[in-house]
Amino acid sequence: MSIGTPISALWPEPSAGPLDDAAIAARYGRADHPHLRVNFVSSVDGAVAVDGYSAGLSGEPDKRVFGLLRMLCDGLLVAAGTLRHEGYRAVRLDERRRAWRREHGLAEYPTLVVVSGSLDLDPGQKAFADAPVRPIVLTRAGATAPPGLADVADLVPCGDERVDLVAGLTELRRRGLDQLLCEGGPHLFGALTAADLVDEVCLTVAPLLAGPGPGRITAGEASPVRHLPLRHVLAAADGTLMLRYCRA
Ligand SMILES: NC(=O)c1ccc[n+]([C@@H]2O[C@H](COP(=O)([O-])OP(=O)(O)OC[C@H]3O[C@@H](n4cnc5c(N)ncnc54)[C@H](OP(=O)(O)O)[C@@H]3O)[C@@H](O)[C@H]2O)c1
Repeated sequence: MSIGTPISALWPEPSAGPLDDAAIAARYGRADHPHLRVNFVSSVDGAVAVDGYSAGLSGEPDKRVFGLLRMLCDGLLVAAGTLRHEGYRAVRLDERRRAWRREHGLAEYPTLVVVSGSLDLDPGQKAFADAPVRPIVLTRAGATAPPGLADVADLVPCGDERVDLVAGLTELRRRGLDQLLCEGGPHLFGALTAADLVDEVCLTVAPLLAGPGPGRITAGEASPVRHLPLRHVLAAADGTLMLRYCRA
């Protein structure tokens, strides 16, 4: 089904050989209840970025899993910092992945959900302007939208001083977005962790030492330590590891 760097399962059951896209997607799957999955890539020494961007960490196997996780979700949650910095474009899926979604009774594309307290967002950014599905912006009451933003996205206030993520996720689920994939960044991940909203973490470990300097995949205020059981280990032939952790 797909050609590229072979990806095999190592644990808990080693696969007989490389996995195709359908087999990889099946190992991540969709939960049968509302679920928040977080996906990050890091270096072996824990860097969230190289030269300021995640691209330096993300090889072909990570991109493949990244795309498959997008295929599996209803809503794609991203913080405004990452949307602005990484220059997010419209969410696109190739025809094969759109067909998979249709066959599974899903909308053809997931809905992009941006978390922004300031609403310092550019309505002309392709993530909004070219979106195949009208994006949602979770924001706080009293934030002032720039001209044109309300034309290209649903602005949903939740919280006064800061974006209330519990209220935000409740609203997303009310709109039928049960399976959420969060692509970061670190401050949003930290806030979701602090609010105990993270059900699953998919972590790609790139076989790189980035050295001191870059931050971690999480940032913000401290929160209690929580156990998160390991569910699978996939390995690509180039040494990239794809780890899936999920609470019961
Ligand atoms: N390695 C990876 O997988 C990966 C993934 C994603 C990002 N990154 C990297 O992470 C860096 C960007 O991170 P960042 O520091 O800008 O953090 P971020 O988490 O991407 O963005 C933080 C922003 O999110 C918005 N926000 C609104 N409500 C929030 C809440 N309750 N909690 C947290 N955030 C809230 C705020 O936007 P407003 O300012 O609009 O209010 C805040 O400034 C970049 O270098 C990017 O390349 C790496």
